[in-house]
Amino acid sequence: MEMLITADDLRTRIDRMAGEIARAYAGRPVTAVGILTGCVVFMADLIRRIDLPLRVAFLTASSYRGTATAPGQLVIRDDFLPDLTGRHVLVLDDILDTGKTLTRVVAHLVDRGAESVKVGVLLRKIGRQEVPFEPDFVGFTIPDKFVVGYGLDYNDEYRHLPYVGVLPAGG
Ligand code: XMP
Repeated sequence: MEMLITADDLRTRIDRMAGEIARAYAGRPVTAVGILTGCVVFMADLIRRIDLPLRVAFLTASSYRGTATAPGQLVIRDDFLPDLTGRHVLVLDDILDTGKTLTRVVAHLVDRGAESVKVGVLLRKIGRQEVPFEPDFVGFTIPDKFVVGYGLDYNDEYRHLPYVGVLPAGG
């Protein structure tokens, strides 16, 4: 596996991101909403370094290609979300690719009554975005390669790797 971002580099950058987030909210309480499952490693490391009053919640956003839904349709499940009315929400995701997932998730959370919604992503792929979307906090900008590790998967494998690597052709 070709290493793209080392565990040391992840630690250093995520420390800085936590500082950027704390400064942006200036002491206001935040509800961090992670998009499962890719967010988990990044989110666990990031939130422990954010010096703010903080709640943690999760949702899922999956593209299903089954017969019940249109091809590629994004299905958001938020059964475990607390009431977000009047809350400042920080959405956390592993990677911004086309931008479709985060666009939909932000609209969904605004519908759920969030006072504000900001977005933090660990990775942003260059040259892939299909919809205009600007994340508030970005860990690393990466080339257009399929990456795994540190929460990112291929067929649900590799999420536990402590670094971000490029998957060799053929999986
Ligand atoms: P969009 O295109 O909506 O999608 O921004 C974001 C989701 O696509 C997945 N994704 C990847 N997963 N390695 C992965 O493991 C990648 O290189 C990659 N690129 C996109 C991921 O689920 C992300 O949340």
